[in-house]
Amino acid sequence: LENRWYNCFKGEINNMRVLLAGGAGYIGSHTAVSLIEAGHEVVIVDNYDNSCAEAIARVEALTNTQIPHYEVDVKDKAALDAVFKKEPVDCVIHFAGLKAVGESVEKPVAYYRNNIDTTLTLLEVMKENHVNQIVFSSSATVYGAENASPLYETMKKGTCTNPYGWTKWMMEQILSDAAYADKDLSVILLRYFNPIGAHPSGTIGEDPQGIPNNLMPYVSQTAIGKRECLTVFGGDYDTPDGTCLRDYIHVCDLAEGHVKAVEYAQTRKGVDIINLGTGTPYSVLDIVHAFEKANNLKLNYKIGPRREGDLAVCFSNADKAKEVLGWQAKRNLEDMCRDSWNWQKQNPNGYKK
Ligand code: NAD
Ligand code: UD1
Repeated sequence: LENRWYNCFKGEINNMRVLLAGGAGYIGSHTAVSLIEAGHEVVIVDNYDNSCAEAIARVEALTNTQIPHYEVDVKDKAALDAVFKKEPVDCVIHFAGLKAVGESVEKPVAYYRNNIDTTLTLLEVMKENHVNQIVFSSSATVYGAENASPLYETMKKGTCTNPYGWTKWMMEQILSDAAYADKDLSVILLRYFNPIGAHPSGTIGEDPQGIPNNLMPYVSQTAIGKRECLTVFGGDYDTPDGTCLRDYIHVCDLAEGHVKAVEYAQTRKGVDIINLGTGTPYSVLDIVHAFEKANNLKLNYKIGPRREGDLAVCFSNADKAKEVLGWQAKRNLEDMCRDSWNWQKQNPNGYKK
């Protein structure tokens, strides 16, 4: 496999022009910074359903560039096609999706409509405009509960517990079928584990609307006093300290993984599935204590009941990304906690002033 990596990369890697669908969001904005830093160009399309143009302005300020960006719903085929005609690109990264697990149970049709339709529309418009490379934001959630950690890309996909997870499962299938039929297509399915942290500048980061569902935004909003107390969901799991284990990954590491993925995408065809994680599990209490230590503060927290649908343990085997992409996470838990807090402190109301 090391040879495979070498063969792919020994040739010159051309600078690419990459369209980021959903590029104003948390992971997209960090990926834009990393792509530009690596010498690539980006074009952003977003309908600002869960983000705002201010995030793009901040990426421009960080990178000292102007980014062509369009307020377009990726489901709107005519509008998307017009962007492809105006802004020729080599590759697409598909971040555009709804991602709140609980909301997907309440509004399954909206989730299937948005997530599946964006994928189909992108594939159609890519084909019509002769763009053959796509990197897709998938999730560890597709492994389901059947597979035991560490999770390998070769494992059979599992059963999802919510519509959000099923949309990822189905989009992986759609993209794989498309690549089977169209031998020119290069598809990379990136399975993210738990992205946290923010750019070290503290100018871009995760900006959840309303009460956060995910752990790190809840932790930092508790630290700043916007939430009274963090509830740790379950203290009686079969894990070393009784709380769930996850594979937290710094969003800047994740972003750099995307740079390697788009570079790799232009060297091959067909489908590759690649985990983006660190391979190291940490518990909820590890996060709480690391956050306290890195930032020299005390967090108000209590142990509460388990959250429905949570797995006790979920972490990656991260070898394939290293072998195939030459990428591995570099930042540690302290970096993740410090950078999350730095973003929260500098932007107590997110991108809203
Ligand atoms: P995010 O909500 O910050 O970013 C998604 C972006 O897509 C937002 O800017 C949103 O406005 C945009 N969008 C949604 N529907 C759109 C549409 N129809 N047309 C145009 N833009 C649209 O989320 P994120 O955390 O940056 O996640 C990016 C992708 O990664 C998502 O697909 C998500 O499901 C996936 N993912 C995220 C995580 C995580 O923990 N954050 C984990 C696994 C997978
Ligand atoms: C969740 C989703 C997953 C999705 C990911 C990113 C589920 C079952 N999984 O992953 O599909 O890809 O978000 O959006 O919802 N926790 C607390 N207190 C809190 C919040 C979280 O103790 O207030 C714990 C959880 O029990 C879990 C860990 O923190 O053990 C991480 O939770 P979270 O950030 O929501 O991510 P996941 O559940 O791993």
